[in-house]
Amino acid sequence: MARIPLISGNWKMNLNHFEAIQLVQKLSYELSGHDFGQVEVSLHPPYTDLRSIQTVIDADRMGFELGAQNCHTEASGAFTGEISPAMLAKLDVGYVIVGHSERRALFAESNEDVALKASAVFAYEMTPIVCVGETLQERESGQAANIVEAQVVGSLKSVTSQQLGDVVIAYEPVWAIGTGATASADDAQEMCAHIRTVVASIRKEASESVRIQYGGSVNPSNSTELMTMPDIDGALVGGASLQSDSFARIVNFKEA
Ligand code: 13P
Repeated sequence: MARIPLISGNWKMNLNHFEAIQLVQKLSYELSGHDFGQVEVSLHPPYTDLRSIQTVIDADRMGFELGAQNCHTEASGAFTGEISPAMLAKLDVGYVIVGHSERRALFAESNEDVALKASAVFAYEMTPIVCVGETLQERESGQAANIVEAQVVGSLKSVTSQQLGDVVIAYEPVWAIGTGATASADDAQEMCAHIRTVVASIRKEASESVRIQYGGSVNPSNSTELMTMPDIDGALVGGASLQSDSFARIVNFKEA
């Protein structure tokens, strides 16, 4: 099955709404000839930028999918400081990152929390990007495959078998995030293939359509080698997504 690659820009806690609008406009200019049907692109700004970016995408009929970086599980209620999936859906958000390693490490999100979030995202007809990945210590002690497998199974357990094939999984080794130390294309491929096998053990057909991104220090120089691996279906890009030229080059990985 031909899976359409998804390149996602996770802006993390960067760019106010003025800066965000500027970046989207520059990016749109640099990608003016881009076929979004061949390589899909999602942008994940901070919450405070979402409405501004939605308006710009809409007004100029840009091909970007709007994305969020997190969400709560409930539709509304007494959860001070949280944002609901219903609110995101109302802003035309298509993809929501759940269980990013920074949320797992800094905000104590468990696989169980991530599973509930993924299911809540589907309930509002959006697609979750479910993040998994081992730490350096886990890799060095030979546990990476087991840890990632447990994260995949645990983080997808509230998703129905029907929804499973539509999930996006982002494999982001923690030691490669923001460090400049990318996993080699072979190591990234090996883990993404393992993740696909784990999905197949839950539901065979789903493993053929599920998209698996690699994330962790992706840049224009390493993106082509990573993205052309058979089980890697896109990238979740942090730092390099904050500059229009580097992100556009990653989106255009097929032309490099
Ligand atoms: P960097 O691309 O900055 O390493 O970040 C990766 C990431 O965490 C994307 O979610």
